[in-house]
Amino acid sequence: MRVLSGIQPSGRLHIGNYFGAMRQHLQLQSKHDCFYFIADFHALTSGPRPSEIAQQTLDVAMDYIALGLDTEKTVFWRQSDVPEVTELTWLLSCVTPVGLLQRCTSYKDKIAQGLSPNHGLFAYPVLQAADILIYKSDLVPVGADQKQHIEITRDIATRFNNVYGEILTIPREYIIESVAIVPGIDGRKMSKSYGNTIGIFESQNDIRKKVMKIVTDSSTVDEPKEPKECNVFTLLKLVASDEELSEWEQRYRSGGMGYGQVKKRLAELLTGYFEPYRQKRRQLEKDINYVRQVLADGAKRAKSEAVKILTEVRRAVGLGAHCG
Ligand code: ADP
Ligand code: TRP
Repeated sequence: MRVLSGIQPSGRLHIGNYFGAMRQHLQLQSKHDCFYFIADFHALTSGPRPSEIAQQTLDVAMDYIALGLDTEKTVFWRQSDVPEVTELTWLLSCVTPVGLLQRCTSYKDKIAQGLSPNHGLFAYPVLQAADILIYKSDLVPVGADQKQHIEITRDIATRFNNVYGEILTIPREYIIESVAIVPGIDGRKMSKSYGNTIGIFESQNDIRKKVMKIVTDSSTVDEPKEPKECNVFTLLKLVASDEELSEWEQRYRSGGMGYGQVKKRLAELLTGYFEPYRQKRRQLEKDINYVRQVLADGAKRAKSEAVKILTEVRRAVGLGAHCG
């Protein structure tokens, strides 16, 4: 089965990215044919500085490799190194109704936040559809916020196939519901754009400081608390054993526990979880050429796949050397 996903280089990766998406990407590697890329074309929709995007792309690459990306087996590349995907975007755009994109919640959210949208932001889901369809992907592991983008991809692919024949593979999303949305320290969805993240590779001290700031209710130490409504507990579920979790659940419910205590434990578990990967991350920082080489090799492998489907699509729509 072909598995594909992408992640934007729009800032340092956080534990929401990890538990919501990256952990699944890494787990799927042993059993499937995995294609993962750094979505730098997508990141341009929010207007980063040129030097920022280059550094952030390398950072995402180092994070993935440090966390266990199998550089031999998995194809890992930078989206813009396979520009064929933008040609497919255009060909798909011509079967995509404007109304489909206007209904897109991530677009509507950005407008509601007061952002004045560029055309790239509006067309973003078509580029994402091209990313998925150009590699004939079967399964797309993502966080819950991306579900609609995969539905749009299916819709576009189905429309294309109805007009031009059964060329495109219809993909499915893969979402782990139990970690669907990881909350940030302010209780909203953890997101680079909200400044409420806990970074995967932040220092122990910074992680602790951020955990201590997680928003909780104002109940006193003595009062019983509801774990299911607590952001600290939601994060604890990601890293604590079942046994430890049920102990905390009891302590919440019986009263006499302050949020400071559970936060301290959460900080310890989080830093412990990522500790083994830190050393590998530091080594990679000293060997950027290796990281660049991994991306260059990945781009070659990705390109040879992309060209195949693009040739078929061009032919189907009536473009290419055999026509005219
Ligand atoms: P961000 O919102 O921080 O910019 P991205 O949009 O780049 O994150 O997301 C990259 C991947 O991580 C996507 O698959 C997305 O669904 C997942 N993801 C991001 N934030 C979270 C979160 N808070 N909880 C679960 N998954 C998340
Ligand atoms: N839109 C995705 C995000 O913000 C990133 C992405 C781009 C993607 N292309 C993709 C994810 C293709 C899955 C498949 O997280």
